[in-house]
Amino acid sequence: MSGDTTMFHGLSGKTRSDGPASAEIERRGGAGVRETKDTAMLFPEDAVRFWGEQAEALVSWSEGWSSVLSGEKEMSSVRWFDGAKLNVAYNCIDRHLARGRKNKAALIWQGDCNDDVRVFTYQMLHMEVSRFANVLKKYGVKKGDRVVIYLPMIPELPIAMLACARIGATHSVVFAGFSAVSLRQRIEDCGARLVITADHVVRGGKVLPLKTHIDQALSTLSQVLNCIVVKRGDGDVSMQEGRDLWYHREINCIDILPECEPEEMAADDPLFILYTSGSTGKPKGVVHCCGGYLVYTLYSCQYVFALHEDDTYWCTADIGWITGHTCTVYGPLGLGATTLMFEGIPSYPGPDRFWQIVEKYGVSIFYTAPTVIRALMRYGNEPAEIHDLSSLRILGSVGAPLNTDAWKWYNTVIGQELLPIMDTWWQTETGGIMISSLPELGGGQGCAGGKPLPGVDAVILDENGQEASVGVTGSLVIRHPWPGMLTGLFGDGREYLVNYYQKFPGMFFTGDSGCRNANGCLAITGRLDDVITISGHRIGTAEVESALVSHTSVAEAAVVAMPHPVKGQAIYAYVSVKDDVGQDDQLIEELKSHVRKQIGAIATPDVIQVAGGLPKTRSGKIMRRVLRKIAAKEYNDFGDTSALADPSIISDLIACRKNEA
Ligand code: WT7
Repeated sequence: MSGDTTMFHGLSGKTRSDGPASAEIERRGGAGVRETKDTAMLFPEDAVRFWGEQAEALVSWSEGWSSVLSGEKEMSSVRWFDGAKLNVAYNCIDRHLARGRKNKAALIWQGDCNDDVRVFTYQMLHMEVSRFANVLKKYGVKKGDRVVIYLPMIPELPIAMLACARIGATHSVVFAGFSAVSLRQRIEDCGARLVITADHVVRGGKVLPLKTHIDQALSTLSQVLNCIVVKRGDGDVSMQEGRDLWYHREINCIDILPECEPEEMAADDPLFILYTSGSTGKPKGVVHCCGGYLVYTLYSCQYVFALHEDDTYWCTADIGWITGHTCTVYGPLGLGATTLMFEGIPSYPGPDRFWQIVEKYGVSIFYTAPTVIRALMRYGNEPAEIHDLSSLRILGSVGAPLNTDAWKWYNTVIGQELLPIMDTWWQTETGGIMISSLPELGGGQGCAGGKPLPGVDAVILDENGQEASVGVTGSLVIRHPWPGMLTGLFGDGREYLVNYYQKFPGMFFTGDSGCRNANGCLAITGRLDDVITISGHRIGTAEVESALVSHTSVAEAAVVAMPHPVKGQAIYAYVSVKDDVGQDDQLIEELKSHVRKQIGAIATPDVIQVAGGLPKTRSGKIMRRVLRKIAAKEYNDFGDTSALADPSIISDLIACRKNEA
């Protein structure tokens, strides 16, 4: 493949150079980034030229495009880089070999136990990915086939993703914390014939079974022909003859060649499907394509973090979420950087684990979520103070609003009031970071919000579709296409349109609310739909409700978000039980465990209130705002409740809430 360009091109513009703090930042490699001016860009004219330039500078193509953006009339059906060809794995590995990065660490893996470390240079990653790509081919995986990857945070996870990308298969990574039921649903929906998993998960000093979830998922699903199992633990697992194969045996097979020619892919061929929650009971399979996704991923990572050749970049998110796809795998590897991957948890073996890792590897860019910051704050300052954190250059946050207390702690204790904090807003659908605080723009000064990246037309609109005034909360909308936008929902054209492009016709509605402040920064405040953000993870209230009502004792369920000091939001469930069911603590525990089994631990309700009845309007609609208020222990100003069929239910629910611990 041709089209070689230098990786660290013109984005790393000015850095601040005033005062002693800036001198220290300079010494560490600069705060990074960017032109200080607001980028006034005309859409679509300037944007099209801009994205064409970015695509040329950041990605190696085997064939150029006939048009950067086509079909602009309908934002929901635009195509990026029509006619262009590329391979994403080639961009993330092969091209770096020729750029003097053959022996550079591409991936540093820190296991749960401090002594467990694996490092892959770009050369080693090339070999491992190529071999595994050949294993996939051997078992019949072809371009366009879907492969489900259900792996914990071990190197084989990015290796499997890149192997799929190399041969043009579409991967769908399912977070290993999801239950067998959720896993089955996703395998079935995307029609995968091959799945990749591990025998066990190692986390926080514990070894937990994983393969059993696959067995359970596949027990009623005949479409899967093969299951490749990575060995991570020591215990026995059952392997089904003819279907299940050990990763280490397959990859070391004598007939597996170390070379695998990257498949030439069209820019709009799918790269992956990632399931995420919406307002419906069924998770949506968000599809991202090779060309647009890679361009936007490399652009946004480079723009926000201004990667340098010697950076060690650590994004703490699990690769099972979009953050890990973009910021642990495709972003840093596409840019030829060194990415760090951690198997364990922040509190094991001690509360200083994250800072010990930062010191051990000289991490320069640290990217995490507000929930992690809040959890770490609770241990006090000492765990951070006993480690040398002077390698850090940029801090980042993503996944939920960064509250003032968490920002202050991050800024003083970790950042020494010196490092820029990038509060980044984006979502599974956007592919890469869309809005970020930038030091030069007065972002990073607390929770002031951020600015859309150049090329991104993000605005806050009021109910009438007009731009909301300063300080007024409205809907966060993206008015023009950007290369990282989702290209569809797997297997569903209609729902896609309804979900994203209907509320503000012809524009992408994010589902979030926010407001613009006087300096033009956008502060994102939370979801407008029935989605709860727990520890930065999205769960639809409808999903939890349908899990609850699938239990034999439950007649009806209504789920709302409740404020939580560490997770940001937690799940509060109101259930009414069937007539013959007694109410006791055992039932509550059973319902919690039922939801865990149906969806996964992240969806476990924090509180389940067994209610005599739910507040419904005469037309049968549950009045959720009332339930949200009671869950938040706000017992007045319920607004107009005259539509309720039985208003006395409210006082019953309040009495019950007051009785809880
Ligand atoms: C939702 C997306 C790629 C992000 C990880 C989660 C919320 C994300 C912020 C932020 C306030 C944020 C939004 C968004 N969110 N970043 N900086 N400030 N809220 O990806 O699972 O697709 O969730 O996370 O509500 O819509 P996701």
